[in-house]
Amino acid sequence: MNPRKKKKKAGFDPQDKFFLLAKSKGYKSRAAFKLLEITETCHLFRPKQRVLDLGAAPGGWSQVALKAVGKPGLVVGIDLQAVTVEAPNYIFIEGDILEPATWAKLPEAERNFDVVLSDMAPSTTGIKFTDQSRSAELVEMAWQVAEQCLKPGGHFVAKLFPGETLGSIKKQLKRQFKQLKEMKPAATRKTSNELYLVALGYQP
Ligand SMILES: C[S@@+](CC[C@H](N)C(=O)[O-])C[C@H]1O[C@@H](n2cnc3c(N)ncnc32)[C@H](O)[C@@H]1O
Repeated sequence: MNPRKKKKKAGFDPQDKFFLLAKSKGYKSRAAFKLLEITETCHLFRPKQRVLDLGAAPGGWSQVALKAVGKPGLVVGIDLQAVTVEAPNYIFIEGDILEPATWAKLPEAERNFDVVLSDMAPSTTGIKFTDQSRSAELVEMAWQVAEQCLKPGGHFVAKLFPGETLGSIKKQLKRQFKQLKEMKPAATRKTSNELYLVALGYQP
């Protein structure tokens, strides 16, 4: 069998409870419920804040952030794929975060945020080591971006497929934040081993 061919995982239901809930509540993705749970537990947002959402498509997390920060706040989403969220206080940049040209599309004066989110995920190959390394590369990149634009006291949330680098990423974040939590929200699929690193209180 071709090891690159993705197997359908047992127990994977594309239209599970959270999918249906997202549809009924008007969220672009079931992922919205992961951020809602993280927010409820860690009190990520306050009204009027500025949020950067890396890996924003199709837009569930951006919707949650927009609601939390309200009209005087701002949300900037970046993704390889288009996002159809529309709001006067939403800026969307289509592009690859690994390319400096993408980040350059955001004017320098806008590059300051209270919260930086990354729900970026690589296209999975089914090869555990490759998927973990690509996921770690995205977290590293998200952190490099956050280091340039996160305000002191700000928060950083990143999705990760845990592998060998988990320890070093956690160590790095622990040094720079007051608190670091690991979360696996209820909306995470049972078939996924992803987790979220929630780093609170940036102290550069
Ligand atoms: C799980 S989805 C995000 C779901 C989103 N948080 C939501 O609530 O709708 C992961 C996203 O990461 C994006 N992504 C992966 N690699 C990326 C990269 N290098 N630059 C920008 N976006 C990337 C993918 O295009 C994909 O849309």
